Amino acid sequence: MTTQTFPSPLHGWRLFSLLAAAVLLMTALILLLEPNLVEATRSAIRATARSSFALFLLAFTASAWAVLRPSPLSQTLVRERRYIGLAFAFSHLVHALLIYRYGQLNPEFWPGRSTLGNLPGSVGYLFILLLTLTSFKGPAALLSRRAWKRLHTTGMWVLAAIFAYSNFKRIALSDWYLLPFAITGAAMVFNLLGKLAQASKRRQRQALNTR
Ligand code: HEM
Repeated sequence: MTTQTFPSPLHGWRLFSLLAAAVLLMTALILLLEPNLVEATRSAIRATARSSFALFLLAFTASAWAVLRPSPLSQTLVRERRYIGLAFAFSHLVHALLIYRYGQLNPEFWPGRSTLGNLPGSVGYLFILLLTLTSFKGPAALLSRRAWKRLHTTGMWVLAAIFAYSNFKRIALSDWYLLPFAITGAAMVFNLLGKLAQASKRRQRQALNTR
């Protein structure tokens, strides 16, 4: 079977660079346009959480799109998943740098947070680090194919759960957070449906081969 992808000059590291530049431009604009630096930093933290969320959703649902809605666009999404995932990690690196800066600008920030409150985010960053490192050949070679797959599947689900939780706990602040919370839930269901469809296709192929 030949896989058709979307014809685009933007792929691989070029795509990563464009996405990373967009995250940096968005952050710079927020920091420049808001006169109060403390508020600007907080807004930029929120904005980078949202850019990370959009990139995460693309990487998390890529395979499911390709199985459930095959098209050149969905095949392209699968082909570029690694670079979209790395752009997600970059966006979250900016989220972390802004949090660090915010802690300096607002000395009440860290004392106002509990260890338990920081736990989901810290676990999230641990997985982002592991997934990023093992996206490169050298560190990936230290793992068996099965262990690599297990790590990446677990990591993506842990991150999806953290996005769901982070948005859920903010629903009390604004109904608006119902939207990203529902989108995360829908992405989880879609990912699972994609996995079921893949497994069923595999079984059909095996049955044909044993005939
Ligand atoms: C210890 C690590 C982390 C800390 C200290 C942290 C801190 C923050 C802060 C201060 C905000 C802005 C809150 C506000 O103004 O309402 C924020 C927003 C957010 N963060 Fe993080 N974060 C961490 C890690 C993560 C991770 C790993 C994820 C996701 C995988 C994440 C997802 C979010 C989301 C979804 C928002 C809400 C954005 C919005 O308002 O739409 N954070 N975080």
